[in-house]
Amino acid sequence: MSFGLSRGKVLDTTGIGFDREDLPSFDQGHLDPRDWFANPEHSFELEIGSGKGTFLVQQSNLQPDTNFLGIEWTGEFYRYAADRLRRNQCSNVRMLHDDAVQFITHRLPDGICNIVHLYFSDPWPKARHHKRRVVQDESLKQFHRILKTGGLLHIVTDHQDLWTWCEEHVARAEHLFVRSEFTPPPSAGDGEVVGTNFERKYRRQGRPFNAMTLKRGP
Ligand SMILES: C[S@@+](CC[C@H](N)C(=O)[O-])C[C@H]1O[C@@H](n2cnc3c(N)ncnc32)[C@H](O)[C@@H]1O
Repeated sequence: MSFGLSRGKVLDTTGIGFDREDLPSFDQGHLDPRDWFANPEHSFELEIGSGKGTFLVQQSNLQPDTNFLGIEWTGEFYRYAADRLRRNQCSNVRMLHDDAVQFITHRLPDGICNIVHLYFSDPWPKARHHKRRVVQDESLKQFHRILKTGGLLHIVTDHQDLWTWCEEHVARAEHLFVRSEFTPPPSAGDGEVVGTNFERKYRRQGRPFNAMTLKRGP
């Protein structure tokens, strides 16, 4: 599928982008993406489904001492976001072209993330596609596993049915997380929840947004 994002420009992911094919083979098990940064000891945040990379561009500038990894499975968005982050000299961000749930489940070590961001995840409205939704009983266990104790998972959506789905799954994971109010990040504009591309597009259509934060328990 083509979204025409590059408008004929060559998108350059050098220094920022990693393709699944660039990674050590699957049978080598866990790998630590903190090693992809100049300062691997810095705190580490993950964004699932970065789209055009707006959140990462805005927030990484305000948190130069944090390393951010965006994971995006659509090739054109991955290349667009990585090129944009490179042009904006976001040296504390990397983009990975992969399925985030697969990568988290099979490759990430325990307890490495300070925050996982999940903003305007695809709703997959048809019942037969619900298994493709990022939030599942198993993925919540994986988010718990990769977060540090006290680490946060932020979820924001404009989709009412997906919100209900998330609330039901989170209720079943109450032994793993404590739910709290979501606070907009410093990069959000006036009246924005996060300030991603999707949020800006759907705000113009007057859609309501729902948001929650989950804190990893011990
Ligand atoms: C609705 S868009 C939102 C993009 C961005 N977060 C925003 O708010 O503008 C959802 C994005 O998540 C990506 N995505 C969905 N499931 C994914 C997965 N399992 N792994 C990586 N990316 C995923 C899609 O390709 C799409 O770019």
